[in-house]
Amino acid sequence: MTAKSPLPPGKFGLPMVGETLAFFTNPQFSRDRHKEYGPIFKSRILNQPTVFFKGPDANKFLFAQENRTMVAKWPKSTATLLGPASLAVKTGHGHRIRRRLMVQAFRPRALENYAVGMDEIARDYCDRWLQLGEFAWYSELRDYTLDVACKLLVGLDQGSKTRLGTLYETWVGGLFSLPIRLPWTVFGKALKAREELIQEITGIIGDRQSQAVNPKEDAQDALGMLLQAEDEEGNRLSLDDLCDQVLVLLFAGHETLTSALASFCLLVAQHPEVWEKLRTEQEAVGWNLARSPRQNELNAMTYLEWTLQEVLRLVPPVGGGFREAIADFEYGGYRIPKGWSVLYQINRTHDDPELYDDPNRFNPDRWNPEGKKSNPGFGGYIPFGGGVRECLGKEFARLELRILAARLIQLYNWELLPDQDLSFVIVPTPRPRDNLKVRFTKRQKKSMR
Ligand code: HEM
Repeated sequence: MTAKSPLPPGKFGLPMVGETLAFFTNPQFSRDRHKEYGPIFKSRILNQPTVFFKGPDANKFLFAQENRTMVAKWPKSTATLLGPASLAVKTGHGHRIRRRLMVQAFRPRALENYAVGMDEIARDYCDRWLQLGEFAWYSELRDYTLDVACKLLVGLDQGSKTRLGTLYETWVGGLFSLPIRLPWTVFGKALKAREELIQEITGIIGDRQSQAVNPKEDAQDALGMLLQAEDEEGNRLSLDDLCDQVLVLLFAGHETLTSALASFCLLVAQHPEVWEKLRTEQEAVGWNLARSPRQNELNAMTYLEWTLQEVLRLVPPVGGGFREAIADFEYGGYRIPKGWSVLYQINRTHDDPELYDDPNRFNPDRWNPEGKKSNPGFGGYIPFGGGVRECLGKEFARLELRILAARLIQLYNWELLPDQDLSFVIVPTPRPRDNLKVRFTKRQKKSMR
């Protein structure tokens, strides 16, 4: 590194506010800046000098630099509400030991168990949607993913209807708010909700510990596994730790999946040719709908896999991630000073015409390995991030997406109701502006239910 290397091009904008407003409200913000300045530029976001990275090489560099020259960084409101022990905010050794323990709740054996629970809840919701007939799907999908998360993470039935569900809504509302600690601010209310959530979770853990007869057999959900988890050095999660980890899992596993499911339902409804191929494949696989699909059946759903992959490319639920430079470093010929933020961009990677032909087109067939340009390589397709902070729940998410999608495709029809705005609100996760209003009916074919 040479002290003479220039800072990245770009402008900071107004003092304090910088370009924060444009960043959050103008979907063209970073596209325009990249056009003007190239793959790396600087700006000021949330009163913080921030360098924008674009392209597979920049992504790979950033992932490899975790805990070397950069560490994960969250806005103050998010970090406070997630809690001091949360996996998402821990860095270095503290992150490593927690991650080693938490990974145990996402191993293939655990996922096999989760598939059964996911499918049971999916069936109940499909019945409910059939009865409702016409409804706004986004909020229903939110309840569905929260119920799945509550059941499989902490063993709680119909979580969206419980006190934990109500508290969660208030807490989540403050995650990306201004961190002003007053009882009537969004953040103040979310902090209060956090306190009560921690009490609820502590109660659930207490009940679990007092009821446990055979802890190994009781460990069916993620909490059960986290209570048992121990690494080779004998480290275990303390009670405070467990509470923060349950919260981060509830959050991370809920908003993102709702967004992905809603995008799937929308894009399939808009592309009948994709729908047709999905149905043909489901009929060929022919899993018994009276039970959850087995791993070999899921593996045979190749076109569904490409479709979901394409959904996560075109509408990534997480647009990118912030890091903080913990030392001066150089990248792409520019100097990035210690203390600055760096943003890697999932959305700008996925809509890069150098990586994807016609990037704005929904085209699941682009993932066919026999196609001409299917694999953008590591760093070019990153819906789940990468490196040591890659999404912990990636396989859980892929499973939940496939299970509900396969059931929907086999058994139901849905059409988009007229007179609604289908454009996307992007922050905090992409969502159709009018919440995706649909008419939901049973498909005319013999069913196993
Ligand atoms: C389609 C659904 C999902 C998407 C697109 C997604 C995406 C991501 C991304 C991009 C990151 C990395 C953020 C960064 O680099 O700063 C991440 C981290 C994380 N995700 Fe997910 N996620 C999804 C579902 C889930 C689920 C279902 C869970 C848990 C049940 C989960 C748990 C986590 C956790 C705990 C982290 C933090 C990991 C760490 O810091 O070590 N995610 N996710």
